[in-house]
Amino acid sequence: MSIRFLKDKKRFIINTKSTTYAFDIVMDHYLYHIYYGKRTRELPDPAFRSVSFAPYLAGYDESRSPDVFPQECSFYGSGDFRPNALRLSSDGTGVSDFVYCSHRTFRGRASLDGLPCARADEQTQTLEVTLLDEVSGCRLKLYYTVFSSLDVITRYMVIENGGAGCVKIEKCMPLMLDLGRSDFDMISLYGSHCRELNFQRVALHHGTQSVYSKRGATSHQYNPFIALCDRNATDEKGEVYGFNFVYSGSFLDEVDVDQLGTTRVLIGLGSDCFSYTLGAGERFCSPEAVMTYSATGIGTMSRSFHRFVREHIMPPEALAPHPVVLNTWEACYFDIDAEKLIRFAKEAKQTGFDMLVMDDGWFGLRNNDRAGLGDWFENPAKFPNGLADFVGKIRAEGICFGIWVEPEMVNPDSDLYRAHPEWALRVEGREPLRSRHQLVLDMSNPAVLDYLIARFDETFRGIEIDYFKWDMNRHMSNAGSVVLPADRQGEVFFRYMKGVYRLLDWFATRFPNAVIESCSGGGGRYDLGMMQYGIQIWTSDNTNPYDRTMIQASAMLAYPAATMSCHVSNPHGDLRSLDYRYKVAVGGMLGYELNILEMSDEVKQTIAAQIAEYRGFEHIVCLGDYYSLAFPTKYPYSAYYYATAGAGELLLTVIEKSGCPKGSTKLLKLKKANPDATYVDVRTGKTYCGEELRAGIRVELSGERDQAHLYHLIQTSVIPGYENTTV
Ligand code: DGJ
Repeated sequence: MSIRFLKDKKRFIINTKSTTYAFDIVMDHYLYHIYYGKRTRELPDPAFRSVSFAPYLAGYDESRSPDVFPQECSFYGSGDFRPNALRLSSDGTGVSDFVYCSHRTFRGRASLDGLPCARADEQTQTLEVTLLDEVSGCRLKLYYTVFSSLDVITRYMVIENGGAGCVKIEKCMPLMLDLGRSDFDMISLYGSHCRELNFQRVALHHGTQSVYSKRGATSHQYNPFIALCDRNATDEKGEVYGFNFVYSGSFLDEVDVDQLGTTRVLIGLGSDCFSYTLGAGERFCSPEAVMTYSATGIGTMSRSFHRFVREHIMPPEALAPHPVVLNTWEACYFDIDAEKLIRFAKEAKQTGFDMLVMDDGWFGLRNNDRAGLGDWFENPAKFPNGLADFVGKIRAEGICFGIWVEPEMVNPDSDLYRAHPEWALRVEGREPLRSRHQLVLDMSNPAVLDYLIARFDETFRGIEIDYFKWDMNRHMSNAGSVVLPADRQGEVFFRYMKGVYRLLDWFATRFPNAVIESCSGGGGRYDLGMMQYGIQIWTSDNTNPYDRTMIQASAMLAYPAATMSCHVSNPHGDLRSLDYRYKVAVGGMLGYELNILEMSDEVKQTIAAQIAEYRGFEHIVCLGDYYSLAFPTKYPYSAYYYATAGAGELLLTVIEKSGCPKGSTKLLKLKKANPDATYVDVRTGKTYCGEELRAGIRVELSGERDQAHLYHLIQTSVIPGYENTTV
């Protein structure tokens, strides 16, 4: 059993493969956080110290103040002045104080009232701890779901209103972790459209540091993943705590260093874009937050997250070979029609593609980005014989078919908006702000969902669709809903996301054979919530290979390669650039967006060879373990490799950035190689012994533009114990 309760000490202990997490019930009231770190039996006892100005319960002294000891959950207004996990009130004060009541453990996990959450397997166990706030009559249930072999614990909370009146939740942070020190660096990923996922590592300081979104989507600006690590932690050494959130809307990650030099981490919905009123007998379930601990550096944290996402977040289809798609966006933008795309499909088939994805421009009067969103009818001028006839002809070429949708949006210039202006998010009396000439549909309104479901059902009836690209191209301002009363408008952001998940669930059920690629102007919703629905995420609208090298390296800190949709675009007939772009793109799930009708035979043959080669090693990228050798913010090149389970196959990539020193030789140690084995690089036929790979493979940097090096190493000799190695 991973979860134990020691009655005499009133102590909960959660053990995973390599970590221990523990907390005690103290004073028959609080949950005192004891420990999170390397697996151990030596757990300290609670330690109390007196600090002046610290409020305490009647009958105790200030050493027992919730303001000075580490806790599992803290409540606004009841003596803990640090950032709190929960602010809830029945009387307008925001004050609550939940006291331990009971607990239970169970196999598996509970579902989250329509929110995405990590899938359980036969080993998953959950601890539920129930607390009571007597004044409001609310129960708070804290959940700890344990994925032992991956060293991952997830957390969420449920609030049940057992009182007679309404209560309002004003801040909700399902993951709170108090750590007894503050000499950490904080890693976070910031950016903007086309510049997603920049790596930032800075020392913690007193006060609160945070990343957040108030945009209604997780956003390009900050990703919900953060990590705290030792100041000298590297990929292979040092303590690291990693955190993430299974949610795709506005969020808050807060890290606070207090007066005593201790650190509090909070992951959740925050308070700016969230409040929720519960009537008597109602319940609220928060999204789920995720944490892991590594005693052996950042690389171990990343690999734990990668396996967790692959095995417990992404749909099982994400582990099957991904279709290599030809997407029409960068080739055609809005200039598409049936005749042209059927020619695309013919060429795509001959070049070895699996699928043609018809991007934006097929519906309504969508000839540019000013009109049409919401009118999900095919444009008869572009598809004179209808969508079904067109898709039939694409499939007749022997290729699968994918289509772009942006269900959450509406253009003011659309029939939908003219009929239902009240279906867009808006605040009475204020003209809604535009972004990309569009408004956001009120996905918290059941009538909007019903319309979208009926519309898509009708338009796609009888059409075989293999793939949806689900886009979202603006953030939410004027976020008000006509279906909520004034005192519940704070619920819009959360209810919106539940509406989006409901629609995604409908797509998954209605089109059981189709997969989804999630996108929000590139990586604006690169999060664990969307990953539950998609086989991959469009990583960025920026397909420049130099920029992509940085973006992809940062994404790999928290997310597996299977999530990263990486397209080769615009080589302009330059074969060297095509090769470079390919070697960058194969760090994730390969696809292309280029005008295949304008490509020379030589370019098409090169692409065909690239696709054929990729099929031979995609499984290593998709399912293998990832090892970073040179992170591109630190070095003038990027180097990393993937290794299959048992290291029977290795895929090493070295990408030179511009300004790489000419002629220098890098020694890259592939420490996962089996020492007694022989490997052959199937690209060159050159052989290496495992010991040599572990000691370091020598790669000479050319120092020229558009240079990258790829090694696909397969073990040729059989060594005992590895006879049946497969991934
Ligand atoms: C933004 C996406 O990121 C692009 O790939 C493309 O699908 C456009 N939207 C279409 O409008």
